[in-house]
Amino acid sequence: METIDWSNLSFGYMKTDYNVRSYFKDGAWSKPQETTSEEITMHMASTCLHYGQEAFEGLKAFRGKDGKIRIFRLKENALRLQDTSRGIMMEVLPLDIFEETVIKAVKLNERFIPPYGTGAALYIRPLLIGTGAQVGVKPANEYTFLVFVTPVGPYFKEGFKPTPVVILRGYDRAAPLGTGTFKVGGNYAASLVAGEVAHKKGYSAVLYLDAKEKKYIDECGPANFFGIKDNTYITPQSTSILPSITNKSLMQLAEDMGMKVERRQVPEEELATLEEAGQVGTAAVISPILRVDDLDENKSYIISKDGKAGPWSTKLYEKLRGIQLGDEPDTHGWNTVLD
Ligand code: PLP
Ligand code: COI
Repeated sequence: METIDWSNLSFGYMKTDYNVRSYFKDGAWSKPQETTSEEITMHMASTCLHYGQEAFEGLKAFRGKDGKIRIFRLKENALRLQDTSRGIMMEVLPLDIFEETVIKAVKLNERFIPPYGTGAALYIRPLLIGTGAQVGVKPANEYTFLVFVTPVGPYFKEGFKPTPVVILRGYDRAAPLGTGTFKVGGNYAASLVAGEVAHKKGYSAVLYLDAKEKKYIDECGPANFFGIKDNTYITPQSTSILPSITNKSLMQLAEDMGMKVERRQVPEEELATLEEAGQVGTAAVISPILRVDDLDENKSYIISKDGKAGPWSTKLYEKLRGIQLGDEPDTHGWNTVLD
């Protein structure tokens, strides 16, 4: 068996032993079955290829100090995939099939779950695609659901160190009443050019403004946005951002810690008043924001004065990681513990 340098993993694909699949055909889902193949065979007129009937999820499994495997917020991810499926007229996958497929994929690839203390995790990527043939713009009548896993390190190479993000007014990720609230591939294709521009200029991500007024903060390319001031956790309310499960968890933890939580429109100017800010998501966990530059308007908002993560962000990060790893009590029942 190959040896894996667990502490130096990047956020990338590594081949594991199995992926698990279920197919929807003739009105029924098949029993999830494992395969060693990394390939998918499909009809050339599949709707996922032509009309973007494609959705994915992202969640993580962790190995605790007690040796147990914990999957974080399995059901929430299953529910969000259902919501996305309704949003782009894909067949809705039953919750029990989602859960069975994920658990099977994790157990079959147990040797790829990073050991406790390495900072790494097993990233779980469920994928649902329309594989039935259509030429007219119509939903498919056949679907493929598959789950693969891969061990990952931090999404941003800086990890928990604050990084700068950028507002690029010439790009939108999603329309106000479009598919921004769904986890569909098209949103990510729409963010690639702006993402590349940002990376070339030395930023970790694009911070998108609302597409209509260009006034309020929406979210980052691969993560939600939060800000902190006056013991208050503030996160944007918008019709074009993904409802992040990590953000939802942090709002609860912030409340548990006695902070006030506000979910509302956040005008760009408010950045000047924030004591802390961060990007939040499964891959990003919490990635503190150093500075926000609005290049077209020649404005810069310094968030972290000393270049370090702030006290609330640090507390929230440690609490979240503690729960995921089993070091802290899971008082909200967020983990699925495998035996
Ligand atoms: N926003 C976008 C656009 C994302 O791709 C992600 C990643 O999944 C998130 C937010 C964070 O969501 P979650 O915390 O559910 O992973
Ligand atoms: C996640 O955090 O799971 C994401 O989907 C972000 C990115 C890898 C697309």
